[in-house]
Amino acid sequence: MGTQEPQHESTEQAHTGRRALLGAAVLGAGGTVLGLSGTARAAGARPGGGGLKSLPVPTIIGHRGASGYRPEHTFGSYQLALDMGADIVEAGDLVPTRDGHIVCRHEPEIGGTTDVANHPEFAARRTTKVLDGVSTTGWFTEDFTLAELKTLRAIERIPANRPHNTLYNGHWEIPTFEEVLKWQDEQTRKRGKQVWIYPETKHPTYFRGLGLGLEERVAKLLHKYGKDRRNSPVIIQSFEPTSIQRLNRLVDNPLAVLLSSADSRPWDFVASGDPRTVADLITPKGLREIAGYAQGIGPTLDLIIPRDAQGNLTKPTTLVKDAHKVGLVLHPWTMRNENPFLPANFRKGTDADAYGDVFGAFRTYFATGIDGVFTDNPDTGVLAREDFLDR
Ligand code: G3P
Ligand code: CA
Repeated sequence: MGTQEPQHESTEQAHTGRRALLGAAVLGAGGTVLGLSGTARAAGARPGGGGLKSLPVPTIIGHRGASGYRPEHTFGSYQLALDMGADIVEAGDLVPTRDGHIVCRHEPEIGGTTDVANHPEFAARRTTKVLDGVSTTGWFTEDFTLAELKTLRAIERIPANRPHNTLYNGHWEIPTFEEVLKWQDEQTRKRGKQVWIYPETKHPTYFRGLGLGLEERVAKLLHKYGKDRRNSPVIIQSFEPTSIQRLNRLVDNPLAVLLSSADSRPWDFVASGDPRTVADLITPKGLREIAGYAQGIGPTLDLIIPRDAQGNLTKPTTLVKDAHKVGLVLHPWTMRNENPFLPANFRKGTDADAYGDVFGAFRTYFATGIDGVFTDNPDTGVLAREDFLDR
C-alpha cells in the first residue's frame, strides 16, 4: 500500500507587510466576491513575469516535479513536469547541507530518496534524531557537505506504488536550489515562456536550532538571481507560519502558508508554546491574520472536502469561500493517480500501483473553486483542467 504523507506541523502573528496580491482578482466591482476561477479564466494567462495573476486557473503545480513518473526532486522530474505542461514546478523542498548550501530533498533524511545506503564511506553517518518531535533514523543532509551529497544519486521513494520509476534510480544527482534558479532561467529562455517555481522551506525551526537558518539563505539566493520581487515567478511555501513571516521581511515574493490536518499544530507553534492548531488558522480570524503576511494557503485536500470514516469524500467545507473572502488563493495538495492516494470513492480495484478515477476526483476538487493543485501527475492535471474548463 501507499505511504501516508507525513503530518506537518507549523506559527505566529501577523506582520505588517503587503496585502494579498490577489485581493483584486477575487473582488469584483463593489467588492462582490467573484469565483476566482471564472475571473482568471476570462482574463486568460499572460506570459511573462506578471505575478500570480498571470497564472492559469486552476493552476497545475508539478509536485516535486513530475514525481509520478520520475524520482522526486531531480532535474529529470522537474524537466518532465514542464514538458507535461505544469504551470509551476515545486522545485524544491529545501533543506540545508552541513556547509550551508541549500539542496532539494523532501526531507533532511535521505535514506529513502537516495542511494546513500550503498555508500560504505557514509555508513557511520546513519543515526537517529528527533525531528519535529518524531524519532527518525537514517542519513541527514545537515551531516553532509554539498560535495559529499553530490556523490549520491536519487532513487524512487515509493517503489511499491511506482515500480516503473525505479528504472531511473541512480540517474540524477541531488539538485541545489542555486542550480534550480539557473535552470529556471535556462528553461524560460528555451521555451519562450516564463517558468515558475514553488520552493518550500522545510523544518525551518529545526534547522534554525542547528544554526542553519533557511530563510536568509533562500532570500540571498533569490536576491542574487533577481527573483526576490513581488512579480518574480517564485512562490515560497512553508508549514511554519513564522518561516513565511520571516520571508515576508526578507523578500517580496508571493508567499503561501501550508496547512496540514485540522488537529495538527505547526511545529513552530509547538516550539514556542503557541496552543493554536490548524483549525484555528482556518477560521475567518486566522485567515485574516495569514492574509496580513501571505498571499495564499496550501491546505491538505481534506480541508477542502473532508473524507468520512470509509475514506469517501463528503461535502466541501467553507474554506475556499472564507480564504477568497480575505484575498488568499488556495493551492491544496496532493493529487496522485494511484488508488491508495485517492478518496475511496474514486479508487478502481485495490492494486497499489493502479490508477483510479483521477479525472473524477480532479473534477470534484476543481468544482469547489480552488485556485490550483499540487499533483505528482501534471499531464493528468492539465488534461483534467481542460475537461473542467470545457464543460
Ligand atoms: O508543498 C505542498 C505539498 O508539497 C505538501 O507538502 O512537502 O509534504 O509534499 P509535502
Ligand atoms: Ca512540498
